[in-house]
Amino acid sequence: MKKIHLIVGARPNFMKMAPLYKEFNRHKADFSVKLIHTGQHYDERMSKFFFDDLQLPVPDEYLEVGSGTHGKQTARIIERYEEVLLKDKPDLVIVAGDVNSTVACALDAVKLHIPVAHLEAGLRSFAKSMPEEINRIMTDVISDYLLTPSIDANENLLQEGKPQEKIFLVGNIMIDSLVQYRAKAAESKILDDLRIAKKEYALITLHRPSNVDRKAGLEAILDAFAEISKNLKLIFPIHPRTTKQIRNFGLEEKVQEMENLILIPPAGYYDFLNLQMNAKFVLTDSGGIQEESTYFGVPCLTLRPNTERPITIWEGTNQLVKLESADIVEAALKIIGGEVKSGRIPQLWDGKTAARIVNIFKKELN
Ligand code: UD1
Repeated sequence: MKKIHLIVGARPNFMKMAPLYKEFNRHKADFSVKLIHTGQHYDERMSKFFFDDLQLPVPDEYLEVGSGTHGKQTARIIERYEEVLLKDKPDLVIVAGDVNSTVACALDAVKLHIPVAHLEAGLRSFAKSMPEEINRIMTDVISDYLLTPSIDANENLLQEGKPQEKIFLVGNIMIDSLVQYRAKAAESKILDDLRIAKKEYALITLHRPSNVDRKAGLEAILDAFAEISKNLKLIFPIHPRTTKQIRNFGLEEKVQEMENLILIPPAGYYDFLNLQMNAKFVLTDSGGIQEESTYFGVPCLTLRPNTERPITIWEGTNQLVKLESADIVEAALKIIGGEVKSGRIPQLWDGKTAARIVNIFKKELN
């Protein structure tokens, strides 16, 4: 019986670990699995709602690290998770994605000579100005198993000199959750509640420090939303960081003036998938939403100069947009006018990634 820790901390981790948690539990003779929540995200809407929708149990350990500067938050995770590791001594720690919880827990484990697997390894934006890029690079350097979502990630890792035998192309784990809950999400009543019809709105998400932590940049993006909203309704489930920055920069009035902008609190998983699958298009700076919109075949305008998920551009419905008001408006108006980028679903985004991973560890850990 091998003991496994699955680490979650921030919102994008939950839909990646849920399918894996369930799959390991289908093999109870071989594995005992614990869910560790660092508490990086702690608001009900950023965490508990997802546990409920994804049918996850209360975590086995909750580290309550909360918010802070990168140094403080990362350090708190390192300090608290080490205690859990010393007590529990698992045979494998699995971390996901690129958040501070990912790199902090990987570092703890590797220093205690506990093998680490990185789920979503090998993605690169090649922009070290992004905290997530540093987290990705660091986690891949110290991990024993590099579980990749798509072939471009394998190429990045090989390019960096990682040995082939550490790299496992497993597919996109987030799509496992999407496939499992798609029908439930389709039943969500969120559009009725908002009194809005399918395809008659664009969905917005925005939270990257590079977009919301500078007043001029945030203002330029809001100006673009104002212009687009003259043509189409906009639904904007707003991240706590963005709410805070709009207040700090005194931009509340600009937001309130937009009649067609519907601001809502962060949505749960089913509601958010529903908003996504029924949107005319998506405007986002998230990583995962670039992938989900490609799966749904919904056009996605990514408000970033780069992406660590280029396959969503090569194969999917995603395109990058320059962070100038005029460019954002032009790209949106093209879609509203019917000029739409179509795409296809990349290989191994099939809902079977968790099963492939568990098979790998049945062999590797024995
Ligand atoms: C983090 C991840 C980012 C991911 C995002 C998804 C890192 C470096 N960044 O960014 O990759 O895309 O999560 O949301 O790990 N806050 C709350 N309630 C919460 C959580 C946060 O109010 O439950 C506030 C905090 O006070 C903080 C801000 O939101 O000021 C940012 O939280 P933090 O976890 O530091 O980073 P995110 O911007 O959420």
